[in-house]
Amino acid sequence: MSAANPPSDLLLPVRADLAGLEPYGAPQLRVKACLNVNENPYAPSDEVVEDIAASVREAAGTLNRYPDRDFPQLRQALADYLEVESGVRREPETLWAANGSNEIMVQLLQAFGGPGRTVVSFAPTYSMYHGYARDTNTRWVQGARGEDFELDLQVVQRVMREERPSVVLLASPNNPTGTALPVEVQMKVLDLARTTGPQEDGRVCASLVVIDEAYSEFRREGVPSALELLAGNPHLVVTRTMSKAFGMAGLRLGYMSASREVLDAVMLVRLPYHLSALTQAAALAALRHANELMAQVASLRAERDALVTWLGDQGLRTAPSDANFVLFGTFEDREAVFRGLLERGVLIRVVGPQGWLRVSVGTPEEMELFRNSLLEVIR
Ligand SMILES: Cc1ncc(COP(=O)(O)O)c(C=O)c1O
Repeated sequence: MSAANPPSDLLLPVRADLAGLEPYGAPQLRVKACLNVNENPYAPSDEVVEDIAASVREAAGTLNRYPDRDFPQLRQALADYLEVESGVRREPETLWAANGSNEIMVQLLQAFGGPGRTVVSFAPTYSMYHGYARDTNTRWVQGARGEDFELDLQVVQRVMREERPSVVLLASPNNPTGTALPVEVQMKVLDLARTTGPQEDGRVCASLVVIDEAYSEFRREGVPSALELLAGNPHLVVTRTMSKAFGMAGLRLGYMSASREVLDAVMLVRLPYHLSALTQAAALAALRHANELMAQVASLRAERDALVTWLGDQGLRTAPSDANFVLFGTFEDREAVFRGLLERGVLIRVVGPQGWLRVSVGTPEEMELFRNSLLEVIR
């Protein structure tokens, strides 16, 4: 009997909470300036491409075998990179990688969230957090950030004490606002989190605090990384990614550093062999070129700061950005501004509170097109 599509009156048992939902995803359009998903606009050089290709070729010869489940070489390379980038030495055993920091956070919620558990974040923030919660059947609670997108510690305290989250997700720098959390705020949240977790078997747990540093390499001079707080805080997880500053969004390589207890728990839920041999080989090759790949970070930061100044000169508001994008506004009809830019070949993102728009920092040519187009649209 040949397989056929199921008749349309056959009901498939899709989870009730997924019914009617649309898949997540920003538009992927071919336009002159793609400034909507905070990518690094610079493609890898020929030299990097050659090295990645040679490494992947070598790994291809082993594809009859499953990849190394624990990838110690890659963890070592990530530890070396982090030490250079942030000055914090982490042991390779305290690092863990997956297919994007998205997957890292899902693994964390699989291990620490789930039915009967709560995850908390503070909006506006990265919209996928809600998705991770939904997909792991973790109750989602969203507190609000203050007027200037800072975390209001009184609000944080109230929400954490009332909701008793097992996980708190905080992006720093935050998406879509670009704002970083001051280290004092991170320390206060960590102190608070020691006793705000679920109460189980008559014992009070801590809340796991995840500081999502996807954009950390773009932080301004003097802004520290939460990696510095890992020592002495076994309930802290710092996530990073090669998708942004590293210019490797297509690779899908995210990672975290945390205490061994956190990693032990994640080991229980990770899928076996989740990181393919090809991904491991390509990531290792890319990390060998960290200096070159990161060379663009300084110019992207300068371009971002110039953009903030320019937007201000046009009488627009901006959120202070430590990332490779800027939230700006406010517009009575932000959709019209978005459409006007798109007609001129500039794709940005309608995201954040009413009236605001987000633009990623591109090459100088892309930014010039953005500036000229915006002037035409708003004048
Ligand atoms: C705040 C934040 N965290 C995490 C991610 C996910 O990054 P990836 O899965 O590519 O590592 C993004 C992507 O845009 C992000 O904005």
